[in-house]
Amino acid sequence: MEQLTRKDLIEKWRNFYLSKGHKEIPSASVIPENDPSVLFNTAGMQPLVPYLLGKSHPLGKRLFNVQKCIRTNDIDEVGDYCHHTFFEMLGNWSLGDYFKDEAVAWSYEMLTKVLNIPKDRLAFTVFKGNEQVKADEYTAKLWIKQGVDKDRIAYLPAEDNWWPSMDLTGPCGSDTEMFYWTDNNNKAPKKFNPEDKRWMEIWNNVFMEFNHTTDGKFEPLKQKNIDTGMGLERTIAVLNSYDDNYLTDIWRPIIKLIENLTGKSYNDFKKEMRIIADHIRTATFILGDEHSTLPSNTGAGYILRRLIRRAIRTSKTINLPKGSLSKIALEYVSEYKSDYPELERNKDIIVKELNNEEEKFSKTLEDGTKEFEKVINSIIRKREFMQKQNPNAIVENIISGKQAFRLYDTFGFPIEMTIEMAKERGFNVDKNGFDNSYKEHQELARTTSAGMFKGGLADTSEQTTRLHTAVHLMLGALRKVLGENVHQKGSNITSERARFDFSFDRKLTDEEIKQVEDIVNEAIKKGIDVQCSEMTLEEAKNSGALGEFENKYGEKVTVYNIPGYSKEICGGPHAKNTAELKNFKIIKQEASSAGVRRIKAIINF
Ligand code: SER
Repeated sequence: MEQLTRKDLIEKWRNFYLSKGHKEIPSASVIPENDPSVLFNTAGMQPLVPYLLGKSHPLGKRLFNVQKCIRTNDIDEVGDYCHHTFFEMLGNWSLGDYFKDEAVAWSYEMLTKVLNIPKDRLAFTVFKGNEQVKADEYTAKLWIKQGVDKDRIAYLPAEDNWWPSMDLTGPCGSDTEMFYWTDNNNKAPKKFNPEDKRWMEIWNNVFMEFNHTTDGKFEPLKQKNIDTGMGLERTIAVLNSYDDNYLTDIWRPIIKLIENLTGKSYNDFKKEMRIIADHIRTATFILGDEHSTLPSNTGAGYILRRLIRRAIRTSKTINLPKGSLSKIALEYVSEYKSDYPELERNKDIIVKELNNEEEKFSKTLEDGTKEFEKVINSIIRKREFMQKQNPNAIVENIISGKQAFRLYDTFGFPIEMTIEMAKERGFNVDKNGFDNSYKEHQELARTTSAGMFKGGLADTSEQTTRLHTAVHLMLGALRKVLGENVHQKGSNITSERARFDFSFDRKLTDEEIKQVEDIVNEAIKKGIDVQCSEMTLEEAKNSGALGEFENKYGEKVTVYNIPGYSKEICGGPHAKNTAELKNFKIIKQEASSAGVRRIKAIINF
């Protein structure tokens, strides 16, 4: 069979959805802006939440794309044949346009006519219903109408066929999932058993028609939406009959490079090479993102550090020479740069940060590993001693929170790495004890609380929306006070405050801060209507709208205008009138990185 490459699959997706009247939207950044509920973009629909809720999209009601996604809830699983922390999601959306009939018919056409999957290798799940929402018989009938045998349709509960989850608030709905029979040696059984692991889910089709309110109701959305997502890596792997995703064209050059650098064979060191290949790909996309993030001890920066350090530790076990990680990253840059030019633009940062981290961590890894061994030995010795006194004495294989914290604080061992190392030796770690030590020493990193890892939806609360408008006014005011060299470098908004980074190379004086506050408050007092219009990127530029022009925009953009104060390309949402903001205050300023200042501001105080 002819090989299906990553580019082939993307082309097929693109041509198919163009032929069905869809417009392509660019991949959003993997570090979401203005969405404090998640560290990374985990699905193509995430940046589209305002449009799923009813806002009109400048490119219309039928969209598709290839989205860079990062999911980090099972980093430890990486090393097997199919888990990845970074993946690309092929997605298509109907924003209140077509619904189940077309979505099912087109999915079936894509699977059987474009990807040429024999009908016999396909199976489907639909929602089986519960107290809140009834079973999705309608979709089951639609599959049958396409020629699917009813034995190949399984009805599953909300845990499987509701997206994102019945526990989360916001836009949601039941889904229908598409499965591919991966066993080349045995024919697929007539009756579909979703428990049989040889059935691999490749595509999810969400019927997003409800808004799950905070008081637990499932209210119909203003519009019925379609949100589909196909995992690119796994689809290419199964369609090429590989039982290992790392054998596809995505990783072939990378694995070859690791083999060359170590002189070892992939067949003998699969787990190690996969961990390095996966983690360095994700690190490349985080460092090389439009909102490039550096290794740190909190948030996305912590995940990045954890991935790089796990890759470094693994690289020692296969004697990957120092300096190799950045070489691997450069291979990824050349592979992906035509689709994600930001990687090429950020190439120097990627190389520098990987080398830096490798330099720093290699120094402490060896000493830390010795310390780790000492801890293990001390527990074993303690047990021997205690049992000499009393043969029934129990000393459990547990590394204390304090010991784990010392490995973190002195040797830079991410806690998850200590837990993994302990597990390899049959030991556990007192994670709660670690968290307590951590709290005592520093403010608790938000990342260590599980909530930040789960997928979530953009925060569109009124307060966040207003702060978003305040940020536009603030950028306009900063440019009036400090000059037109001030550009936005990043922003992060929670319902409590806005954090805003901009290019400027010194501390602002108290007078300057006051001037900025005065300009914003003047705009608020005037009660100006926030105008929103759609235009081409060229028209937006000519009209003087600010934008991060190095970013990729679609054919049409939305421009928010607050006459006299601000005009910016932006996806929104925004306040309707500046009066809603009531009052604006800057509460903090600090240096963010070289040449970049950071301001925190609040409203309504
Ligand atoms: N949002 C759904 C998912 O992530 C479909 O794209 O699976």
